[in-house]
Amino acid sequence: MDHFDYRDGVLYGEDVPLTQIAERFGTPCYVYSKATLARHYRAYSEALGSHPHLICYAVKANSNLAVLNLLARLGAGFDIVSVGELERVLAAGGDPAKVVFSGVAKQADEMARALDVGIKCFNVESLPELERLDDTAGRLGKVAAVSLRVNPDVDARTHPYISTGLKDNKFGIPVEQALGVYARAAQMSHVRVVGIDCHIGSQLTELAPFLDALDRLLVLLDRLKEHGIHIEHLDLGGGLGVPYQGERPPAPFDYARALLERLEGRNLTLLFEPGRSIAANAGVLLTRIEYLKPGEAKNFAIVDAGMNDLIRPSLYQAWQAIIPVDTREPRDTARYDVVGPVCETGDFLGKDRELALAPGDLLAVRSAGAYGFVMASNYNSRPRPPEVMVDGDRVHLVRRREGIEALWAGESLLPEDASESH
Ligand code: LLP
Repeated sequence: MDHFDYRDGVLYGEDVPLTQIAERFGTPCYVYSKATLARHYRAYSEALGSHPHLICYAVKANSNLAVLNLLARLGAGFDIVSVGELERVLAAGGDPAKVVFSGVAKQADEMARALDVGIKCFNVESLPELERLDDTAGRLGKVAAVSLRVNPDVDARTHPYISTGLKDNKFGIPVEQALGVYARAAQMSHVRVVGIDCHIGSQLTELAPFLDALDRLLVLLDRLKEHGIHIEHLDLGGGLGVPYQGERPPAPFDYARALLERLEGRNLTLLFEPGRSIAANAGVLLTRIEYLKPGEAKNFAIVDAGMNDLIRPSLYQAWQAIIPVDTREPRDTARYDVVGPVCETGDFLGKDRELALAPGDLLAVRSAGAYGFVMASNYNSRPRPPEVMVDGDRVHLVRRREGIEALWAGESLLPEDASESH
């Protein structure tokens, strides 16, 4: 459930008409609902109740400081994949002791910074990474808490680009090799084994793959015990899907119940790394129609947001609902491809949508709170849009629209004496 609803024919974010936001901040513009973010976070924390747990929000889904700050205030931990994300968490008031660090290519200086601020755990994805971590921690006179990200080889049955737990994906340590890598870790003097971890993919709409992965991890866990390796926490990653187009993914409550049943009698703290299920439906992208372009084969609604602002439809053929913001004026409906200004045929937000439109109308692309702004780029030299958070009847600009000069900040001309001949 989210807090974007119609009132008297106008779409609101909580208690604020989106027409008002478009007027004040222009379009395109991302709008997030604070109540929805909080609600989705609490769905996890309440589902786990008194079982020892930590919800580490996956920063990559939406890393705006206000979003991170809100989640930090609610008690969240964070799953990061770069030192940039770590610095964001710190700048947003997040507790480093609740941070887990995932990612296949951690650099020594990223490890050093994370050790310095005292993160909870490194989710290690390969033996060479483990060796680098031991070495880096050794140089700093520290001991790094580690969890191995195990690749359980289960099919998440999701889009191939966002499936991560199969043998032929680059992520994690193959489950058959994990015991050997744990044994190596146990011998190292600057790492301490604390956890086991997996993340099998994103936008999962059924529980079975999660439970298959869990079963494989538990087999490994028992073997580790036989080898005297003690695991304190189990991190199942993120991946719970959201309804984009009528999907009915399991609720955190049902997910948690199924897991806790299987974990009975084991003394394991449970970690999750949800991103999409917290942020996606807490955000919309507001865009305005520049032109309607009727055609023989197709009608195009050309809007002011493009693939540089929201790339999911272009990159994954993702379907996101596109709805009118103000339905008070009656209009004729037609089928439209909703396309952006970028010079690429693949620049679309939605195809073949039945909509009642006139030039100048506002549209809202739903489910844009996760993997929306964070994946935005400046392609076609388009400044990135602003981000706004509504909170009841209050509106906070949480990132201003990028200025034109920002497009070339950090670039420079060649020196005057640069030769033009070669
Ligand atoms: N943990 C790890 C290690 C991850 O790689 C991811 C997402 C998550 C947690 C969060 O997963 P979530 O709960 O959001 O499913 N850009 C794609 C999604 C890429 C997901 C990458 N990893 C999209 O727009 O669909």
